[in-house]
Amino acid sequence: MQYTIAVVHGDGIGPEVCSATVAVLRAVPGLASKLDFREYPAGADHYRRTGDAFPDATFEACKAAHAILHGAAGLPGVTYPDGTETGIDFGLQLRFRLDLYANLRPIKLYPGIVSPLRHFSPGQIDYVILRENTEGLYAARDGGTVLRGEVASDTMLITRKGVERITRAAFELARRRNGALRDGKRRVTLCDKANVLRSYAFFRKVFNEVAASYPDIETDYAYVDAMTVHLVERPDFYDVIVTENMFGDIISDLAAATVGGMGMSPSGETGDHHGFFQASHGSAPTIAGKNVANPHGTILSAALMLRWLGERHADRPLTEAADIVERAVAQVLASGAGLTRDLGGSASTSDVARLVSHQVQA
Ligand code: IPM
Ligand code: MN
Repeated sequence: MQYTIAVVHGDGIGPEVCSATVAVLRAVPGLASKLDFREYPAGADHYRRTGDAFPDATFEACKAAHAILHGAAGLPGVTYPDGTETGIDFGLQLRFRLDLYANLRPIKLYPGIVSPLRHFSPGQIDYVILRENTEGLYAARDGGTVLRGEVASDTMLITRKGVERITRAAFELARRRNGALRDGKRRVTLCDKANVLRSYAFFRKVFNEVAASYPDIETDYAYVDAMTVHLVERPDFYDVIVTENMFGDIISDLAAATVGGMGMSPSGETGDHHGFFQASHGSAPTIAGKNVANPHGTILSAALMLRWLGERHADRPLTEAADIVERAVAQVLASGAGLTRDLGGSASTSDVARLVSHQVQA
């Protein structure tokens, strides 16, 4: 079977990290003929030129594709009259319109990378954040109000259906993983602020209802403020963390910082019918066009894409290709050759593309 991959490069470093990733995928033995890459425009630069950040034709192509691969989008200053950014509409609209409710953000410290957490070495941080991706505070995008230049509001939205499906996804994921590194226990931690807001208390109630069907998995709770401390002090305690959209956005950046920074932040956003893969970093316009951006996050996101496609279509070679890409990234990082500037090395974006492409063929 051949898979159509809609590729949207985007802005800033987007085209560099995305091209590096496509090069790696093309190099995996047997994969080139299985993937049909098709490029479509979207983002802030496209908005600047056409007045449209996310053309309908791009949306239709993304919807029709088997998966969507993206670099990064958005440019500061390229905003709508209300002050919000234009380019990010690509990712945000995709989430809503394709119902990509589960945003998986693996947090893993790879050999070769020095964590700012001095007590933690590679092999000691490996958990996932599952960010609810279609509701929460972000559901208010385009729906907030500003009254008389005096009062502004954005409403957080939590639905029973939304909590049930993301919670089930978290527990199913925990069943497939090997538990927390600290004690080997399968654990799902709900990160919320149920002590303060009704919406989070409701989230917790529905979470508990779903959790009752998974007696084999430990349930755990952390308020988001305390969570920022735990992720620094005891990241090895975590296995699967599930959380509301906005909280997931925030804690996943903090978590990425503990494993090498935003360049090491893969992400896969999936629903029941569509999958969208991009690193969780932004478009980093200040370093764009210099061949210095770290593409590992995007390459690892593509590995998530291969695994998702492989499982969905019961296509073993694709699942194996996902492992091959992940192992290749781990090897070039461990050797030191694949460390980009942000990781303390001097590899360029194209160096990494070349090294990982070589390694996937080894
Ligand atoms: C992310 C990004 C996006 C978000 C932006 C680009 C809209 O920060 O994927 O984490 O806020 O969700
Ligand atoms: Mn973010």
